[in-house]
Amino acid sequence: MYLGIDLGTSSVKAMLIDGDQQVIGSASSRAIEIARPHPGWSEQDPADWIRATDEAIAGLRDSHGPAFAAVRGIGLSGHMHGATLVDAQDRVLRPCILWNDTRSHLEAAALDADPRFRAITGNIVFPGFTAPKLAWVRANEPAIFAAVRRVLLPKDYLRLWLTGEHLSDMSDSAGTAWLDTGARRWSADLLAATDLDERQMPGLVEGTDPAGVLRAGLAAKWGLAADVVIAGGAGDNAASACGMGTVREGAAFVSLGTSGVLFAANARYLPNPASAVHAFCHALPDTWHQMGVILSASDALNWHSRVTGATAAALTAELGESLHAPSGVTFLPYLSGERTPHNDAAIRGAFVGLGHESGRAVLTQAVLEGVAFSIRDSLEALKAAGTSLSRVTAIGGGSRSRYWLKAIATALGLPVDLPADGDFGAAFGAARLGLVAATGADPFAVCTPPATADTVDPEPSLAAAYEEAYRRFRRLYPAIRAATA
Ligand code: XUL
Repeated sequence: MYLGIDLGTSSVKAMLIDGDQQVIGSASSRAIEIARPHPGWSEQDPADWIRATDEAIAGLRDSHGPAFAAVRGIGLSGHMHGATLVDAQDRVLRPCILWNDTRSHLEAAALDADPRFRAITGNIVFPGFTAPKLAWVRANEPAIFAAVRRVLLPKDYLRLWLTGEHLSDMSDSAGTAWLDTGARRWSADLLAATDLDERQMPGLVEGTDPAGVLRAGLAAKWGLAADVVIAGGAGDNAASACGMGTVREGAAFVSLGTSGVLFAANARYLPNPASAVHAFCHALPDTWHQMGVILSASDALNWHSRVTGATAAALTAELGESLHAPSGVTFLPYLSGERTPHNDAAIRGAFVGLGHESGRAVLTQAVLEGVAFSIRDSLEALKAAGTSLSRVTAIGGGSRSRYWLKAIATALGLPVDLPADGDFGAAFGAARLGLVAATGADPFAVCTPPATADTVDPEPSLAAAYEEAYRRFRRLYPAIRAATA
C-alpha cells in the first residue's frame, strides 16, 4: 500500500492505493483557515497543516484500517511557493505567506528587474513566488529575517514533521525563484540577492527519490512499519500531472479549478519568461514542464454566481449544450489580477459591450468565453515557448460544464479529452511518487494516463466567430489597463 498526502490550500487529502495503483480509499480533513489580516495578505499557520494531516490520516485509518497498516511508501504534494520560516530549533517564526499573497509585489518587481533571475530560473519573479516574500520579510520584519535558519515550502514543512529531514523536490523548488531550473540546483547568486545562502535551503532530491523515513513516534502512533519511505514528492501541479499521466512530451491538461492551469510536459527545459509562461522542473528526473496560470477560472463563474444569486450549475444549464456564437459581450476574468500572459497583479476584470438585451445568460456565456480565451492566451504563450499541442485533457470542477468544454475546445482549436471516472488529482499523483520511491519502479511505467471517456471537439461552424471574439478579447487588456492604471 502507498499513501498520497496532498496539502491543499483549503484542506488536506490523504489517498491510499495498492501496488496495482487501485484506489483503496481517501479521506479529507476539515477546512484549513486562511488569515487575511491586511488587503493582499494570505497566511496560514503551519500547525494547522499538521492538525489537518493527522485528521485526514485518522479518517483513512477509521475507514481502511488493515490496508492502511500495510503502507510502505508515502508521497507528498502541496500548494506551491509558500514561505515557511523556521529557526535553528525548527520552530515556525511567523505564519506561512501563501502562494496567493500579493504583498511582495514591489519586491517581486525589483528582483525581476535583476536580469539574473529570469536567466537562471527561466521565469518571471511573480509576486506569489517565495524569494520576493523573503525580501519583504527582510525589509519589514528584520528580527524574524535574522532568525531564519531554513526556508521550507509547505509540503516540505510536513516532511520535516514526518521525518525530521530538511529536503525538497525539484518541481516545488522551481517555484521559489532561487532554483537554477535547467541545472536542477540552488543558485548561490540568486539566494545571495535576497541575503540568504544555500545552508538556509533544504537539500534537493527528485520527486521520485526517497527523501526521509517516517519518524518512529509517528509510525508507532499510526500503526505503521518502522521503515516507511517518504518520496521527494511534488508541487501540487506537478503532482496532479503525475496522477494524470502528463509526464511525456506532448501530453497536456487544462485544469478548471479556482485558478486555471494549462500544463504541458516537456522532455527538455523550455523557458520563455517574456510570455509569462512558468517553466519548472517536473517531478520525474530529467523532465520539465511548462504552465500557463490564470488566476480566476471556476472562480470567475463563482463570482458571477454570487452576484446573480444563481448556482454555477443553474447558470451554465441556462445555456444548453450547443455552443452559441459569441454575443459581442466580452468578459475579462482578471478578478484578482493575472499571471499568464500579463503578469499584472493590479489589473481587474471587466464586462465590455453590454446592451439592453444583455441578460443573465449572455453574461454567463461571456464569463465562460472569457476564461476560455484566457486559456487560449496560455496556449499561445506555450507555443511561443516552443510547445505545440495536439489535444488536452480537462480536469477540475469547471470540466463538469459541457458548454464550457466546447467553448474551450473551440477557443483553443484542439480536442478536449475527458478522463474516465476516477480521482486522478494531486493526492493520487503523490501516492504514485510514494510507490516509485519505495519500490524503485520506472516512473514512466507508473505515471500513465487514465482512459479517455469522451472527447469534446471544437465546433467548426463557430471557429471564425470565436477567432474574431478572441482578437477583440486581446485588444481589450491594453485598453482597460490604460483606462484604469
Ligand atoms: C502555481 C500556483 C498554484 C498553487 C496553489 O504556480 O501558484 O497552483 O500551487 O495550489
